[in-house]
Amino acid sequence: MVKVFVFILFFSLVSYVMSSGYKPAPLDLSHVKLTPNQNQLVEKLAENGHNVWGNQPFYSCYLPCDPQDILNKRNPRLVPYNLLDERTKKTNRDSVNNAVRTLIGYGYNIEPPDQESSESLFLCVITRKWYFEFEAVTTGEMRVGWARPNVCSDVELGSDELAYVFNGNRAQRWHIGNEPFGRQWQSGDVVGCMIDLTEMNIMFTLNGEMLISDSGSEMAFKDIEIGDGFIPVCTLGLSQVARINLGQNVSSLRYFAICGLQEGFEPFAINMKRDITMWFSKSLPQYVPVPTDHNHIEVFKQYLCHLV
Ligand SMILES: *[C@@H]1O[C@H](CO)[C@@H](O)[C@H](O)[C@H]1NC(C)=O
Repeated sequence: MVKVFVFILFFSLVSYVMSSGYKPAPLDLSHVKLTPNQNQLVEKLAENGHNVWGNQPFYSCYLPCDPQDILNKRNPRLVPYNLLDERTKKTNRDSVNNAVRTLIGYGYNIEPPDQESSESLFLCVITRKWYFEFEAVTTGEMRVGWARPNVCSDVELGSDELAYVFNGNRAQRWHIGNEPFGRQWQSGDVVGCMIDLTEMNIMFTLNGEMLISDSGSEMAFKDIEIGDGFIPVCTLGLSQVARINLGQNVSSLRYFAICGLQEGFEPFAINMKRDITMWFSKSLPQYVPVPTDHNHIEVFKQYLCHLV
């Protein structure tokens, strides 16, 4: 208590007058309050300051001497920041706090960096109505649509319950197997993939026209469940080329204004400023033992070859 008192007294004295004629006039920071984000910054700076301090070559201060001495004289503050005593932490924090408030007092703008940019963002829709486009540059085996976030890359899309996709090469819809749906795509055709999580169905357009099933229904899939939500997904066969447009730039979507916008769908990546994280995986050859009773493959000899 006494120490604190002396400290304050000292400062109130110096701010009044000094024998040298120097009259300190620090910036008035009384009006500067830190936001929670700025307080987080103060905490980070204080921690970093501690680490910078802890990182200097302390040993040199004690050299030359017995190594045991070094351990004995170890500074009790040479510990990770979170283990530091509260009083030292407060001292660190206060000086940083003053520095930050001084910067703000001088009119500097201190904003935290875009929180999103430090980690990859995984987008998955669970409400409302969403749209994205897929342009078939080539016309071969490709599937596009919506899948569960835990969809596996080693299973054909739509062969299990995790994906709901359209294959425009064969005019089929795929979800736990396939059925005829829509019509075949030509090179340059654009598939609009729509998911309606209010009516719980999935629809596809081809160049802005609704694709329909054999029975005349526009629903490619209906009564879907929200579950863990949905992500856009596609697979491409060997040598196939396609372009996916998640609609970050809405005006670059080709058929959204014709079919999608008026029905209340939103581009999947609407209002996203930064690039969207895409997952990509490539199937690799899988080697499995040939069963002894295989119809047309037989292993009749095995040997090792050594170069001598
Ligand atoms: C958005 O797309 C339109 C149409 O393709 C294009 O003219 C425009 O330059 C794009 N805007 C941006 C910011 O990329």
